[in-house]
Amino acid sequence: MRDLFLRACRGEPTEQVPVWFMRQAGRSLPEYRALRERHSILEMCRTPELATEVTLQPVRRLGVDAAILFSDIVVPLQGMGVDLDIEPGRGPVIAQPVRSSSDVARLTPLDPAGDAGYVLDAVKMLVSELDIPLIGFAGAPFTLASYLIEGGPSRDHARTKALMFSEPEVWGQLMQRLSDAVSVYLRAQVEAGASAIQLFDSWVGSLSPIDYELYVAPWVTSIFDGLDDLGISRIHFGVVTGELLQPMHATGCDVMGVDWRVPMDQARARLGEDVPLQGNLDPAILLAPWEVVAQRATDVLDRTGGQKHIFNLGHGVLPQTDPGQLARLVEHIHAFQP
Ligand code: CP3
Repeated sequence: MRDLFLRACRGEPTEQVPVWFMRQAGRSLPEYRALRERHSILEMCRTPELATEVTLQPVRRLGVDAAILFSDIVVPLQGMGVDLDIEPGRGPVIAQPVRSSSDVARLTPLDPAGDAGYVLDAVKMLVSELDIPLIGFAGAPFTLASYLIEGGPSRDHARTKALMFSEPEVWGQLMQRLSDAVSVYLRAQVEAGASAIQLFDSWVGSLSPIDYELYVAPWVTSIFDGLDDLGISRIHFGVVTGELLQPMHATGCDVMGVDWRVPMDQARARLGEDVPLQGNLDPAILLAPWEVVAQRATDVLDRTGGQKHIFNLGHGVLPQTDPGQLARLVEHIHAFQP
């Protein structure tokens, strides 16, 4: 297996900078859009052959150093008895939002083999076909709780935070159920063959560092602790998390994801020289002419020196991105001499 990505995750010296993109599978690729005309997102997630095909599409086209399983963070919630859908252009929508102790009690424990066996089948099919590492993933408890409580995407996460501040016991019960599910789910993906995992706490940047420590960190720490014996690299990522980089890293991840709002040298100054970083080109830069992309990508690389660095965007690929720009960016990153 081509292990450049895994060596960089472990903080080992690398002769090239590895690169993959969050949301590399998806609407920027015409071959993905063609499949989506015939299948819903959840149907693709639930059908191992389709999930495998969509995971491989960017690998064939872009020359990336890691594949990320095609699925969605809400997929395991279905396995916990939550009735949900993913609305195109909007995101996950929950039929009956979770807002009370009895709502929390209705969430069933996740049995990955029984409730999400199709995900594990996709992982197994993928590792038999790939010659690069497969990244498994899950949503982190805060981000999952936000969808469950709000009932859908939210700008300010007001209901979520209101419940967290006013009913800390219910919040604790919900975080416990979600972190138990995430723990067994990530473990099952690794046992099926994933060689790294990423925990997406996409929306946790809406919290202050103090509230992160109080209401989120204990559960995330238990998730990372619980994966320790597997010996795989654990990547932790969120958006607008510049002020949370240190407390998020302190939960026990190996690689810290950085969004584009914090220059990589500043992220390194905040976390120390030893922490491998992943990121952080603004995805919107890919909509500019190639010369701008090249210059800004080189700037990102210069800020890490290309060591202990996994190149990525600061968040997911935008659907209107030209995949030609992505392929060219991969070549540009690989040509950089660390
Ligand atoms: O290569 C990959 O990274 C694709 C696999 C992937 C998807 N969702 C598929 C998907 C991953 C890693 C996710 C994670 C995910 N899902 C997150 C965390 C990452 C992040 O972006 O912060 C979050 C917050 C979600 C929830 C979610 N699902 C959103 C916000 C949306 C977008 C809604 C929209 O249409 O813009 C989805 C739908 C979704 N999940 C799409 C894809 C490719 C869009 C798909 C489509 O309509 O075909």
